[in-house]
Amino acid sequence: MIDQKFIIPHKGRVTKRERQKLKGHRSAIIWFTGLSGSGKSTLAHSVEERLISLGIHTYVLDGDNVRRGLNRDLGFSAEDRKENIRRIGEVAKLFVDAGIIVLSAFISPYREDRKFVRSIVEEGEFIEVYVKCPLEVCEQRDVKGLYKKAREGIIKNFTGIDDPYEEPENPEIIVETDKESLEESVNKIINYLKENRYLEVES
Ligand code: ADX
Repeated sequence: MIDQKFIIPHKGRVTKRERQKLKGHRSAIIWFTGLSGSGKSTLAHSVEERLISLGIHTYVLDGDNVRRGLNRDLGFSAEDRKENIRRIGEVAKLFVDAGIIVLSAFISPYREDRKFVRSIVEEGEFIEVYVKCPLEVCEQRDVKGLYKKAREGIIKNFTGIDDPYEEPENPEIIVETDKESLEESVNKIINYLKENRYLEVES
């Protein structure tokens, strides 16, 4: 570990607020958490489409994509998942600084890791969305065929099977993808953003 006291960041004159003003909306992280197959990615991309149509600048950070690039050196031990979320959190924070609404879709099974991301951004910049769906439903969907492999013991430490998932205690939003339609879940999130004035800049 490098001694941080010898790292002195340069502070530019252009601020986050100025970038937000340029875009005409606030920036934040919409953090989707939930089991594999709960619908995080589908939801994140659908919310992005809606936001883009409203003229909002967005970007999606998605589990499997990030794990093939930036985090390709990480596995699924508790320690690696923590590092996965730490790096994603730091990247998401940069997007917030750039004035963008970033949607992140990762299982992020540990409360402490999600809490860390919340702690590195300003109050109100972390919106936790619990994508709630019973394990049986996720397993029945088995979009990627991974639950079957986990049950067969081919994949170890699979979330929900032989690895834990810690439900959020106080998420800003809960969507229940086995009960609501995709459109209902998207509307819930868009309404939250509108009601809490994310889609406009403070004067
Ligand atoms: S996290 O736990 O570190 O947040 P992340 O969202 O990046 O996980 O990656 C999860 C995706 O990796 C799953 O959707 C699934 O496709 C794949 N995967 C492969 N092995 C595992 C595993 N052991 N546990 C969970 N997901 C796995």
